[in-house]
Amino acid sequence: MSAIKKFYVTTPIYYATGAPHLGTLYSTVLADVAARWHKVCGNEVYFLTGTDEFGQKVAQAAQEVGKDPQLFVDGYIDAYKDLWKQYEIEYSQFMRTTSEFHVKAVQAWLRKLMEKGDVYKGAYEGWYCLPCETYITEKDFVPGTVNPACLSCERPTKWVSEPTYFFKLSAYQDKLLAFFQTHPDFIIPRERFAEVISFVKSGLQDISISRSTLTWGVPFPGDDAHVTYVWADALNNYITAIGYAQEDKQEQFAKWWPADMQVMGKDIVRFHAIYWPAFLMAAELPLPHHLLVHGWIKVGDHKMSKSRGNAINPHELLKNYGADAVRYYLLRQLAITQDGQFSIEDLEQKITSDLANDLGNLLNRMIILADKQNATTMTVGLWQEEEQELQKKMVAMLEEVSKEMERGYFHLALAGVWKYVSAVNSYFHAREPWKLAKQDPVTFMTVLSATAHSLYTVAYVLWPVMPLKMEELLRALGCTFELQGDKISELKNQSWNKVFTVQKNDPLFQKPEPAKEVAIEAAVAFEPQPTSADVSIEDVMKVELRAGTISACVRVSGSEKLLRMEVDFGEAGRRTIFSGIQKHYSPEQLIEKQAIFVFNLKPRKMMGEASCGMLLTAEDEQGRVAFITPERPVPNGRVLK
Ligand code: MSP
Repeated sequence: MSAIKKFYVTTPIYYATGAPHLGTLYSTVLADVAARWHKVCGNEVYFLTGTDEFGQKVAQAAQEVGKDPQLFVDGYIDAYKDLWKQYEIEYSQFMRTTSEFHVKAVQAWLRKLMEKGDVYKGAYEGWYCLPCETYITEKDFVPGTVNPACLSCERPTKWVSEPTYFFKLSAYQDKLLAFFQTHPDFIIPRERFAEVISFVKSGLQDISISRSTLTWGVPFPGDDAHVTYVWADALNNYITAIGYAQEDKQEQFAKWWPADMQVMGKDIVRFHAIYWPAFLMAAELPLPHHLLVHGWIKVGDHKMSKSRGNAINPHELLKNYGADAVRYYLLRQLAITQDGQFSIEDLEQKITSDLANDLGNLLNRMIILADKQNATTMTVGLWQEEEQELQKKMVAMLEEVSKEMERGYFHLALAGVWKYVSAVNSYFHAREPWKLAKQDPVTFMTVLSATAHSLYTVAYVLWPVMPLKMEELLRALGCTFELQGDKISELKNQSWNKVFTVQKNDPLFQKPEPAKEVAIEAAVAFEPQPTSADVSIEDVMKVELRAGTISACVRVSGSEKLLRMEVDFGEAGRRTIFSGIQKHYSPEQLIEKQAIFVFNLKPRKMMGEASCGMLLTAEDEQGRVAFITPERPVPNGRVLK
């Protein structure tokens, strides 16, 4: 028997600005499945999830509905806890970053960094994505772009300029690269690792870790004018939850840290794979063993998100299909390595084919046959070649599934289980037990017993994914689900020696009625909230758009992207404006063309000269840029309304 190991798994903490949706459920189910797998393997598990409650995004969302931020976030906690409960998420702790112990521990962490000389005061100027609470670095957009789109959520960013405390991230560049080199499995899947390594290699800048234009955050130690930048506070939840910097919890902290698996979506990998390890190095703490990075659930071409209005309501899915089937679909359909499509038709098809037909029917047919022949108590069979073959396949399946579950490739683990379920179905058909009942009662019993042993194994292997249904399957075999020791090794090593007493029951899985309507973002918990991306008409009017004719245009030497234009705005004068569209237009194509420009943009120095405005453009599906022009010519300098 293998030694008991500890397994500490975490989910991201979710912004408490709205109720959970299918995307956040997905991260949480992945962590729950990993946790339950380790429980079946006899390991000691700690599973942390929770909510991210500080920062500008939360403060602004609260302000928009006229609520105190604490009361605002308090209002969402039950929505998370209830949904997690209904989806059988068995967490050990629900973390809230507004908890006092967290605030104090984050301050202790900051003091440690300051003592080490890793923090200094300065001023930050740059673009900021509020929905993602992210500083956009120069590497992330074409120079000269105004309000560049956030790489992750694609929404326009805003200019921030404020005094701040910086963390010396640049000092950790080499240490991070050295760590990555010696830990090739740090980021799973490996494909995502490459992106992180190349980002770090291209040079790390120090990052701002405090905000002085905000009060909703962890007070910055020693400076009342600042609060901690929300990601610096949030990432630390993974250590503060289990006792970091809390005197009475040192033993607990030493027991669980470092985390064994930290689950997250690809949109937040940079925070977890670069900032977080550097923060830990600065605090002289060991780094987590693995980051499991999943792709996005997409609906059509887009990431599913509440602000896009294409979010699927997990409550509706629950009502129509039950938690276990949805959990199964999320894990089987969405490969951890890629983005995946969510479709109701596909979900229903998987429930019918995999769950109701392949698995449920096998159980049903075996039990009906046993019942008909008064053979509901099955003695241990007399194993022949066919059964020995099936046992070998079972052991191979357990080995393959263990490997894939361990590394978080759940879709491959499930494919492995279903290969075995098919093999059991084929065995059952080939053995034709309905004929054996009269002709050869001993072999008849052997076939039933082998099928029951197979289903028993499948139930334990699938329990992490479908806990309630698999406990039901075990009950149908006359067994009770038990978490004791390393069940997976036991199944691998023990010969088939069980006596089953099966019971006739309702089918394990119901085939769904075709294409049930699933309300998109409609239920009460999903009341649309004004998002930070919405702006008032007054805000729109602040941007002065004017028509102008490009009277001269040249390529800028030393730049592959920029064109330099002279633009005639009639009575409003002539201006020099740079635009990063050299790849899409030659200067000749633009001369004498009328276009639309942002006129009151703060001048920016580009290639040694001031650019006083911005040409408006849009991209087509192939990424080709088109500039915006009035439908018919209007006088130069005319203001758009
Ligand atoms: N608060 C930060 C995380 C801080 S962790 C220290 C945050 N919160 S979040 O509410 O936006 O939720 C993040 C998690 O939900 C990520 O793992 C993200 O990938 C996941 N998802 C949100 N929409 C998703 C999809 N459409 N598809 C898959 N997962 C997505 O970021």
